[in-house]
Amino acid sequence: MLFWTAFIGVVKIPQWTMSHVPSESWRALTDEELRGREIYIKNGCIYCHSQYVRPQDWGLGAQRIAQAGDYAGQLPPLLGSQRTGPDLSQEGGEHPDDWHVAHFENPRYTSPMSVMPEFSFHSDAEISDLIGYVQSLGAKDADFRVQRQETWGEQARAAYAAGPDESIEWLHANVPEVWRVMPNPYPPSEPALARGERIYQMYCVGCHGASGDGRGPAAEFLDPQPQNFASLRRNLVDDKYIGGILYYQIMNGVTGSAMPYFKTHLESAKIWDVSNYIAYNFIGKVDYQYSEDEIPVAYEGPEMPSPDDEEEAE
Ligand code: HEC
Ligand code: HEC
Repeated sequence: MLFWTAFIGVVKIPQWTMSHVPSESWRALTDEELRGREIYIKNGCIYCHSQYVRPQDWGLGAQRIAQAGDYAGQLPPLLGSQRTGPDLSQEGGEHPDDWHVAHFENPRYTSPMSVMPEFSFHSDAEISDLIGYVQSLGAKDADFRVQRQETWGEQARAAYAAGPDESIEWLHANVPEVWRVMPNPYPPSEPALARGERIYQMYCVGCHGASGDGRGPAAEFLDPQPQNFASLRRNLVDDKYIGGILYYQIMNGVTGSAMPYFKTHLESAKIWDVSNYIAYNFIGKVDYQYSEDEIPVAYEGPEMPSPDDEEEAE
């Protein structure tokens, strides 16, 4: 009795709920993706990553609740039971390929606090297969996102290749008007800058570098590479605002480039704090609007040359 109850409970009921009918999102994996899947299995990625979004995960940034038909024909299914790392069932197209290259080389490059091991011992071909597989997670929904990354990536790379001015112009043209005219609503107080620095070290330093020059260890794997934040001084020449532009870009990322979106990681006040940190330390000017009865924070950052000096030096 005990045996058969256990058998029905842990074998038969799961089997009855399995579906061999593909869902509307399902598609077959290509040969490259299947090779990548083998590498995923061999390296035990499943010990840290699930591929199954449960209804109770909804609201935590989940893009789609898993359907039985999403896994049709996949043996063994790689649902996983551990989430030391994030769920990967909708990972395809979340990041462009260059982000993954840097991340597999060393996860601390893109995500300084990561506990994921390095996979730099794999050959370029193996990494490429593995990225192919990771980009297929989410099937047709992932294909749509990958396509969007590629379309925007072409524009981002073209703007980057044309030079810093063109790049910044392109980046800022994609920021809606309402954000472009918005100063940072928080003063760059000492605690705010200290909080901003901590966030910068936890999330940004691997790509943007400790001095904000875009030369973090991930940069050599990326195209486009991060800009030197000091180039943004140009935007402040006619006393234009920069706070809202930074906020919008940090919140939404830059689709097509490795710049991730942080709206699921950082709440609003933290994004303003890190914007203030960047403006104060790397751009050399903050745009919080002091009211008459407030005492402005004295700027003690490095002396910044004006954009004209730089052009002369070139
Ligand atoms: C020891 C646990 C661990 C192992 C093993 C592991 N990861 Fe991770 N992984 C993490 C953690 C933690 C994160 C979140 C921080 C980061 O981005 O690195 C992560 C993040 C990721 C991300 C980025 C998710 C996102 O969009 O933010 C991908 C893709 C990924 N891992 C793939 C893999 C693959 C493929 C393997 C196997 C080759 C693997 N991981 C093995 C822990 C692990
Ligand atoms: C994985 C690498 C990576 C990480 C991590 C990253 N960035 Fe970026 N970031 C980039 C790249 C690459 C660009 C350039 C995009 C382009 O030129 O198309 C960029 C662009 C930006 C811009 C736009 C600059 C401009 O010229 O308008 C801002 C602002 C920014 N990042 C802030 C941040 C902050 C703040 C963090 C951390 C919370 C962060 N980034 C984390 C790679 C990264």
